[in-house]
Amino acid sequence: MTEDLTLLIVDDEEATRSGLRMALEDECDVYTAADPTSALTILKSENIDVMLTDLRMGTESGMDLLEAAGKLERPPISIMMTAYGSVDTAVEAMRRGAWHFVTKPLNLDEVELLVKRAFHSKKVEAKAETLETEVKQLKRQVSDKFKLDRMIGRSLAMKQVFELVEQVAPTRATVLIEGESGTGKELVAHALHHLSGRPAGKIVVVNCAALSPQLLESELFGHEKGAFTGASQRRIGRFEQADGGTLVLDEIGEIDPTTQVKLLRVLSERTVERVGSNAAIKVDVRLVAATNKDLKKLVEEGDFREDLFFRLNVVRLEMPPLRARREDIVLLANAFLKEFAEENGRPIKPLDDHSLKLLSDYSWPGNVRELRTAIEHGVVMSNADTIQPKHLPAFLSDPAGSITVHSTKITQIESTEPKKTLDGADEFNLHEIERATIERALAFSQGNRTKAATLLGISRRTLQRKLKEIDID
Ligand SMILES: Nc1ncnc2c1ncn2[C@@H]1O[C@H](COP(=O)(O)OP(=O)(O)OP(=O)(O)O)[C@@H](O)[C@H]1O
Ligand SMILES: [Mg+2]
Repeated sequence: MTEDLTLLIVDDEEATRSGLRMALEDECDVYTAADPTSALTILKSENIDVMLTDLRMGTESGMDLLEAAGKLERPPISIMMTAYGSVDTAVEAMRRGAWHFVTKPLNLDEVELLVKRAFHSKKVEAKAETLETEVKQLKRQVSDKFKLDRMIGRSLAMKQVFELVEQVAPTRATVLIEGESGTGKELVAHALHHLSGRPAGKIVVVNCAALSPQLLESELFGHEKGAFTGASQRRIGRFEQADGGTLVLDEIGEIDPTTQVKLLRVLSERTVERVGSNAAIKVDVRLVAATNKDLKKLVEEGDFREDLFFRLNVVRLEMPPLRARREDIVLLANAFLKEFAEENGRPIKPLDDHSLKLLSDYSWPGNVRELRTAIEHGVVMSNADTIQPKHLPAFLSDPAGSITVHSTKITQIESTEPKKTLDGADEFNLHEIERATIERALAFSQGNRTKAATLLGISRRTLQRKLKEIDID
């Protein structure tokens, strides 16, 4: 029949082995062994689909062979041959993983039928295994694709983001994503959900800034019919909708004090109460909070509850601004170019060198979103076969927005404040150069220390220390 099915017959009696071989060799490739040890050697070296083994072979036990075979990487389907009447042993064999048993003396028709059925079930098993591997591969492909297609970046800063995302995504830990507008916080929130391994649940995004306090509360927790004027229907809240999945609270910094308290309770008790009801509903939700504010600063200023901040800040993910990862600009620009060219049904037009330089030198206060829009503008405006600076938004050519970073020194920062220049002896005084550079970075970032530190390529804490040292307030 099928040449690639393999059967191993294990019996210490030569007559049984040859009898079975004759009966079955039309069905499959037959191997034989006279004892468990040589049987195991064959099992390890050949791909055996089905093993037909005696239970008692001299002093050695077929039961041990059964167990050893079951531990192999590719275990065969095992059929045991037992002496008539020893049903207890047969049951024990089944318990230890045998697929079936036949009683001796053997009825060859019965054995043949059983072996055929075993082959069939082996095939089904193999098919299921292939399917499982395929599903695994597909899942991996989808997640790679997600990472490659949707979150672009090869800068060290982005690689660190990717690593952290992959590491925390499968956990239940609450993640706080901070970063300037347009840096990809929402994209990261989706990646966290996508890679969470919670495919049953969905991702629900709530923009906390878009709703009044009362609306936000019933949006998040739901309400019962008649809970307040206008509540004509019972409403299921976002927490309940995200049960088993991920709830993203965007612009968490905007949430009002009352809702902060309620949110804190939900996070500590993992239950929600709909507005107008006292019933606690259990929810299993992975929370992701995003903000373009410095949440810690809001805490310091008394605008955000510290206890809630601690609950949210289990894992903190900071999205780097685009100007801090310039090597990603061209990569992103080309990806967006491809996307918009396809969307507009136009051939892909390369960016000319001058445009690339403009893009690379610009400070991108609106980050990736701003770059994306600029490229869309370019694709739409250009009729020629390349995109030139005149097709790109005019602000790119405005020197005020351009910063060029040369090694450690930032040059050409234009600010709204009068630029301080160094004169005479100060020109080579390292402290003075440092002070002037820090002042310019602060002026450029309008006093925002986090931004200034990013511009300077140092940590916020180092900047604080330096400010103290040089006595800048
Ligand atoms: N690394 C990236 N690769 C590809 N596209 C990106 C990347 N980061 C951001 N984008 C794109 O930039 C745009 C803005 O991203 P997103 O909405 O995630 O930013 P955000 O940080 O949530 O901004 P905001 O604070 O304004 O809500 C989206 O169109 C997003 O697809
Ligand atoms: Mg967002």
